[in-house]
Amino acid sequence: MSQKPWDGRFSEQTDRAVEAFTSSIAVDRRLYTYDIDGSIAHSRTLARAGILTEKEADELVFGLETVRGEIESGTFEYSDSLEDIHMHIEDRLSTHVGGLAKKLHTARSRNDQVALDTRLYVRDQCGKIIGHLTGLCKAFTDLAEKYIDVVMPGYTHLQRAQPVLFSHHMMAYFEMFSRDAARFEDCLKRVDVLPLGSAALAGTTYPLDRAYTAELLGFSSVSDNSMDAVSDRDFILEFLSCAAICMTHLSRISEELVIWSSAEFAFVDLPDAFCTGSSIMPQKKNPDIPELVRGKAGRVFGSLTAMLTLMKSLPLAYNRDMQEDKPPLMDAVDTVRACLDIYIRMLPKIVVNQSITEAAAGRGYLNATDMADYLVEKGMPFREAHGVVGKAVAYALGEKKELHELALDELRFFSGLIEEDVFPALSVRKMIDRRTTHGGTSAKNVADAIARARKRFP
Ligand code: ARG
Repeated sequence: MSQKPWDGRFSEQTDRAVEAFTSSIAVDRRLYTYDIDGSIAHSRTLARAGILTEKEADELVFGLETVRGEIESGTFEYSDSLEDIHMHIEDRLSTHVGGLAKKLHTARSRNDQVALDTRLYVRDQCGKIIGHLTGLCKAFTDLAEKYIDVVMPGYTHLQRAQPVLFSHHMMAYFEMFSRDAARFEDCLKRVDVLPLGSAALAGTTYPLDRAYTAELLGFSSVSDNSMDAVSDRDFILEFLSCAAICMTHLSRISEELVIWSSAEFAFVDLPDAFCTGSSIMPQKKNPDIPELVRGKAGRVFGSLTAMLTLMKSLPLAYNRDMQEDKPPLMDAVDTVRACLDIYIRMLPKIVVNQSITEAAAGRGYLNATDMADYLVEKGMPFREAHGVVGKAVAYALGEKKELHELALDELRFFSGLIEEDVFPALSVRKMIDRRTTHGGTSAKNVADAIARARKRFP
């Protein structure tokens, strides 16, 4: 049973069950390095305000660095009776600098302290995740470049629609993940605000130079309202929203890889080193990585939902409920980072079965739109052309043939505008190359997209 900082007001010791119930050390110990950075900056700010001497600040900084060393070397002891990482560090600091440690908490509350630690953590994690996303964007660009000319069916409703380049499909994911990176960059702007100096909720009577603290900790700005600074966690909500959207994108490529690696599709082979087998069926090779990533998306959505629910209707300012912000936040960080990392490792090893994807693009009437476009070029209004080709498809289905396998005479039965030159227009290559509007699947467009991607993430 340790002394509590609030002992003065209390006539009973805290119940052990209450200590265990209220303790957050198992989770917030991960914030130790930010807590120490924050306390170092606070010591310097107190000295600048004349509340500590420079010598006292130096001593505190030395003591705090010693504690950091102890934590990093694994000799630090944790206990529920000290509740959280803030009290652990202050308690240990007193064994190094004695009574001076008691001065560190001047002009500070755990409310602005924990807001600071969490912002520093989220700021770091945004940077790390942006790094992973950059790696992933490069991996998609590499894959697009490697299979630049491979044709595959493009789908809507998971029904074959029109041929596309596999590289175009990969660059679609590049776009999604590069927007995810931009979203985290944007989130970072609102995370990057110093809350320290807000104290418990109303600000402090001490003349703290908050701009100086912000400079020491590398923050771009200082919070403008003390009550907001200690009581909002919208920067976590925003971070988790970015994480949830990113997981949605990962779940989509995952679903596609699961489908494409099935015997029914056989579009891609996943690397053996990234699959597992079955304990009973010797022939099995399962796409565990995409499956798990697909599943883990739900976990990150859960974090976002938990956090929204946690903050909903909370009165200002700090409420203890908010201690529950860290488990969902940290779980989402770990999950997103692990998923991005494994994808960066797996993607370069995916093998595309070109002959199968190309054959698939040649069957299933994927050239019906192009045949309608052909008729439009010959002067027929599109709606009418759509009807003509629809009838031709119905006929071809009956004949068990593709449109381009019908004889010219058979095609001319549907429209006299059809001539010999229809056949090249119906070839897969022609269909791809004609889609030249900006953002379309022509080989030239995809090459340009890859060049833009290389510029963005060199
Ligand atoms: N462990 C607490 C949290 O994470 C620190 C702040 C505690 N503040 C308080 N007034 N009890 O929110």
